[in-house]
Amino acid sequence: MSYHEQQPTVFVIDFGAQYAQLIARRVREAKVYSEIVAHDISAEEIERRRPAALILSGGPASVYAPGAPKMDPRIYDLGIPILGFCYGMQLMALDLGGQVPHTDIGEYGFAELTVMEPECRLLEGVSETSQVWMSHRDSVGTVPEGFLVTARTGITAVASMEDPSRGLYATQFHPEVAHTEYGQQIIRRFLHDIVGIPPVWTMVNIIDEAVEHIREQVGSDKVICGLSGGVDSSVVAALLHRAIGDQLTCVFVDHGMLRLDEATDVVRVFGDQFRIDLVHVQAQERYLGLLRDVTDPEFKRRIIGEEFWKVFFDEATKLEGVKWLAQGTLYPDVIESGNKTAAKIKSHHNLIPFPEGVHFDLIEPLRALFKDEVRAVGAELGLPDEIVHRQPFPGPGLAVRIIGAITDEKLDMLRKADAIVREEISNWDTERSVWQYFAVLPDIRSVGVMGDERTYGHPIIIRAVSSADAMTADWARLPHELLAKMSNRIINEVEGVNRVAYDITSKPPGTIEWE
Ligand code: XMP
Repeated sequence: MSYHEQQPTVFVIDFGAQYAQLIARRVREAKVYSEIVAHDISAEEIERRRPAALILSGGPASVYAPGAPKMDPRIYDLGIPILGFCYGMQLMALDLGGQVPHTDIGEYGFAELTVMEPECRLLEGVSETSQVWMSHRDSVGTVPEGFLVTARTGITAVASMEDPSRGLYATQFHPEVAHTEYGQQIIRRFLHDIVGIPPVWTMVNIIDEAVEHIREQVGSDKVICGLSGGVDSSVVAALLHRAIGDQLTCVFVDHGMLRLDEATDVVRVFGDQFRIDLVHVQAQERYLGLLRDVTDPEFKRRIIGEEFWKVFFDEATKLEGVKWLAQGTLYPDVIESGNKTAAKIKSHHNLIPFPEGVHFDLIEPLRALFKDEVRAVGAELGLPDEIVHRQPFPGPGLAVRIIGAITDEKLDMLRKADAIVREEISNWDTERSVWQYFAVLPDIRSVGVMGDERTYGHPIIIRAVSSADAMTADWARLPHELLAKMSNRIINEVEGVNRVAYDITSKPPGTIEWE
């Protein structure tokens, strides 16, 4: 049972478009808890779980597309208010006796919406004309009996429809997309005014609930948590600490591939500030030994990963009475996709290589949260900014940013150069518009001249990208002055470096990391 069942929940029914997650997030931004469920959920299951409302997501371009996902039509009779978007609206129309004729003209991108019924419920407060985001081919031709057409665009005659007596509302456009001018207002209107769900899903509320749930789940047992310095494990640790205090032990394996000051920061924040029972394993030498002369990036990753679990379980099994292992699994890892071919729930259980005879139950206190919510929880719990807003950082750390064999000297060089890159860009990028930035040390050398002397030194490559999700990325258009300053500082301050290059490759075809 979900521990959120005590509070009003909105189910976003996922018809396989990429929009379901966005809708769930928008609902949560309206301070209402939401979950994504697969489109084949039965009416019985919905009745049992009693969501306060349903939102039908977008999906394929047409309800007639081969394999177009359907929904149990008995769901319309449960008396639960439903809001459909795009495909969700077409399906609602078709299921309830309306008509969705094939059209040759689709509508993609911006459109001007005209509200035709100023008295309508869903679009109350929306200007007579406004901008909306469309992405569809077919559209509703005839609305089902009892429905009122409330808006249109130049191309789409039925841009929204509603039957307030049955609690059914739908828009052909996408209110969840930021380009839709009144999008969030429409979502809030539905949730707060029409359905009457109070906006109570706030950070404080999330934390209180999570704390209560953790206490219920673990009782007086002991919990162990691997801490990496990253956002997810840090928030898990802080949250567990808030819930169960010294029943929690954190293990921080320092593999020596962290950036400048990161290890000290972890110890300062969790050991000194939070006073968490922290086992700090100094495994730097051990890792350097294992990685000596290893140049293959996959091999580096494997060595570091396997060794982490070895060290972690060595420590974990030294502790008495530990029953639980805490994991920073987030909601996007858990979501059941409406698309049957997509992976179902990812099983993290399989990913943990428990040694023979060792087993802990998993506790995943963040599994209902999106990344931005995790950051907000972290901030609320008092974690410092540099942790809460930490950029993605590979588990094997600098090992994948040193191309070729890793040595102490190279680590030192890269750490210093990377610290300069991070300091300079973060001072300039106060809005955090750049997704990720760091330094890379390639396995080449080049000739230079410093003073009267010829040098044969290392280049440093600066990588800075803009991105929304790391799936695609573009190189950041940093000002020349900033690049110049970083280059000067790196060459002057980092011994052994005599050249700086800026990577101007997007992803694809490049990746963000070099490896
Ligand atoms: P690529 O290089 O594939 O990276 O474009 C995509 C994003 O993933 C990050 N990354 C990792 N994050 N553990 C992580 O938590 C890892 O092992 C790892 N490797 C790459 C990378 O920094 C980028 O943001």
